[in-house]
Amino acid sequence: MLQIPRPDDWHLHVRDGAAMASVLPHTARHFGRALLMPNLRPPVRTVAEAAAYRDRVRAALAAAGAADPSLPPFEPWFALYLTAQTAPAEVEAAKSSGFVLSFKLYPAGATTNSDAGVRDLRDAAPVLEAMEALGVPLCVHAESTDPEVDIFDREAVFLRDQAAWLTETFPKLRLVIEHITTEEAVDFVLSAPDTVAATVTPQHLLLNRNALFQGGVRPHRWCLPVLKRERHRQALLRAVASGSRKFFLGTDSAPHARHTKEADCGCAGCFTAPHAVALYAWAFEQAGALDHLADFAGRSGARFYGLPAATGTLTLERAPWQIPAAHPFGGGEGGDQEVVPLFAGEVIPWRVAAP
Ligand code: NCD
Ligand code: ZN
Repeated sequence: MLQIPRPDDWHLHVRDGAAMASVLPHTARHFGRALLMPNLRPPVRTVAEAAAYRDRVRAALAAAGAADPSLPPFEPWFALYLTAQTAPAEVEAAKSSGFVLSFKLYPAGATTNSDAGVRDLRDAAPVLEAMEALGVPLCVHAESTDPEVDIFDREAVFLRDQAAWLTETFPKLRLVIEHITTEEAVDFVLSAPDTVAATVTPQHLLLNRNALFQGGVRPHRWCLPVLKRERHRQALLRAVASGSRKFFLGTDSAPHARHTKEADCGCAGCFTAPHAVALYAWAFEQAGALDHLADFAGRSGARFYGLPAATGTLTLERAPWQIPAAHPFGGGEGGDQEVVPLFAGEVIPWRVAAP
């Protein structure tokens, strides 16, 4: 048995509407808080839009709690989608809102629903300056969108060019490099001041790029940033095993209806919300770092964001857990009502015991 503080998920996609109603309870069962990503259609760009989204999230949580009274309380936090038009006054509004925690930078074209993102970082300079001044963090999808750049190099190139510009131009800006995948990202974060941190997903700790082609193309392992070489996975494991408080939990659980991934041009995103905590335990065990899981999952993120430490605990046990072949997923287009989780049908060595 392994008891940890009730974890927080600092990078989560729950979508909206019926899709949200079906995936949100998975997160609420194990996590105390989550930072919800704003890449909806249309994106969540303002505090007013986040307030409306929060109402829908709360309604979904209330319905889930009515259906299952054992569902523990859950606190959603929100990231606003940064655009070249975001007004500096929005930063002020975010800071005083009490439910918006950060802005999210999507380089335009980098990932799912990123077309409204920022094309040239310099266009966002006034709002970045306001964020730096007010201490509002920027969550960064750190991938170059230059079509000439090899897909496996996009993170390293973004860090070398754009992220370095960010830290030099706005030295006090609080930055979270999201879902890091490379040795270069680990080095970037470790050599930066304490204002720079990173989230790490379970898939990037557990899988390397061979997993994408194991016996054929594996669309449910396809996410962005794409899985990298084993050397990079080892660097991520070392980073979390170091116990550094700069690395914390963000699942990037990103549900897509089955047929939109098993497709000619399949969507990027791994769905891990139901079993993510057990996947992290598996990865930390591999890294010989189970004693650091509590900080990574339940303390370091809250500390970075200036929030109180988690209340409550979660107990994990080393026992086989067979991951379902699929989970119900409301609102899927084309009548598709399923989402396939990462490791579907496989047995993983850890599970969540009764909370
Ligand atoms: C995410 C999604 O589907 O919203 N997809 C992904 O592959 N990670 C977007 C993102 O975080 O890049
Ligand atoms: Zn994401």
